[in-house]
Amino acid sequence: MTATEPQATRARRPEPFAAPKGVPEYYPAESAGFVHVRDTLAGAAARAGYGHIELPVFEDTGLYARGVGESTDVVSKEMYTFADRGDRSVTLRPEGTAGVVRAVIEHNLDKQGLPVKLRYAGPFFRYERPQAGRYRQLQQVGVEAIGVDDPALDAEVIAIADEGFRALGLTGYRLEITSLGDADCRPAYRERLQAFLAGLDLDEATRARAAINPLRVLDDKRPEVRAAMADAPLLMDHLSDASAEHHARVLGHLDDLGVAWTANPRMVRGLDYYTKTTFEFVHDGLGAQSGIGGGGRYDGLMATLGGPELSGVGFGIGVDRTLLACRAEGVQPWSDARVEVFGVALGDTAQRRLVTVAAALRARGVRVDLSYGGRGLKGAMKSADRSGARFALVLGERDLGNGTVGLKDLASGEQQDVPLDAVTDAVVTALAG
Ligand code: HAM
Repeated sequence: MTATEPQATRARRPEPFAAPKGVPEYYPAESAGFVHVRDTLAGAAARAGYGHIELPVFEDTGLYARGVGESTDVVSKEMYTFADRGDRSVTLRPEGTAGVVRAVIEHNLDKQGLPVKLRYAGPFFRYERPQAGRYRQLQQVGVEAIGVDDPALDAEVIAIADEGFRALGLTGYRLEITSLGDADCRPAYRERLQAFLAGLDLDEATRARAAINPLRVLDDKRPEVRAAMADAPLLMDHLSDASAEHHARVLGHLDDLGVAWTANPRMVRGLDYYTKTTFEFVHDGLGAQSGIGGGGRYDGLMATLGGPELSGVGFGIGVDRTLLACRAEGVQPWSDARVEVFGVALGDTAQRRLVTVAAALRARGVRVDLSYGGRGLKGAMKSADRSGARFALVLGERDLGNGTVGLKDLASGEQQDVPLDAVTDAVVTALAG
């Protein structure tokens, strides 16, 4: 439809659609930051030998019910679960660990040497109440190391996350760490905590929560509950010898690696599979949704999901929140520029020539865009500026006759003529300068 069509024939435009609530979208220029954050975090994992795994985005609902825990908020309240056309109950993945463990068991990946080291990146889905930093489609980069119960591996996983954050230039975060013990000390501690809770004057809802998972009450944010819990027994004080030694060795490795940590014996994670080492990276510039990453050991999960008795440790880092953290700190180690060079052709013959110049430059690895649609010099130069390019290549009929092309530095405004038949070398040299 054009503006010149008569009023009577103009059809009413349908209402445009909006993206689902609570789902962030990343488009240029911001998407450059998203891609940089994701790839930096994944790169730190790749350098430590974690191979990429591409997981299904939906799985059998039972995988999460059994793997993550039916009493967790994630499983009981936040899953996107539906029956597919074959009447199977499937769920959009709320997290990655259960899927990785399922894949390791299904494909016998543990038979090819241990630990199995895997990394993943992509969207996860939780039906949470959307707010700043809390989304219904969230993006994570994660790693899982399965099959070796070595404190040095816990420290490696934590150090990878730390290295990723540091590579982005972040400084305003801290690592909180604790131990959730093992099968030898958790049951006795649970009873101890339940006995303590029985002596408190708690409301019905909290009491019901305590019956399912008493550890959750340690994390209650209400001042009156916090006060009542001040003297609650802490698992860190009741660890088995093996768990205590494991924890001490993890902390020792972190010290060796120069990774600063803070003990948080009241940490409670939202997923039920954790044992021993449990940690969170917390950023102070993000308000309520301050967790930029978290993880830990899950030594029973392989067996729970029907696999061999193998341990595991890993993390999930929130890419969305890490990008917010970069913004909060004002760090931007990436460029918003779409391209390095923008070609401006004046006239058809010039355009034919510049199209081939662009192709030759792209073949050399230079990012190049062109003005299209026969725009005039002014409009085309505006596009060049918007693209973020360092240089414009300006080619008019007169330049063609001279066998030259104008190479304009868009920051300084300086322009020089370079020979058309040597333009690729000239541009590559200018970009290196
Ligand atoms: P999680 O703590 O549930 O752990 O999620 C990891 C990270 O994902 C969080 O620290 C946060 O940055 C981000 N995140 C979670 N929910 C949201 C949301 N609604 N909006 C934005 N970001 C969010 C796990 O998922 C475990 N699978 C991590 C793990 C791997 N543990 C062992 N291996």
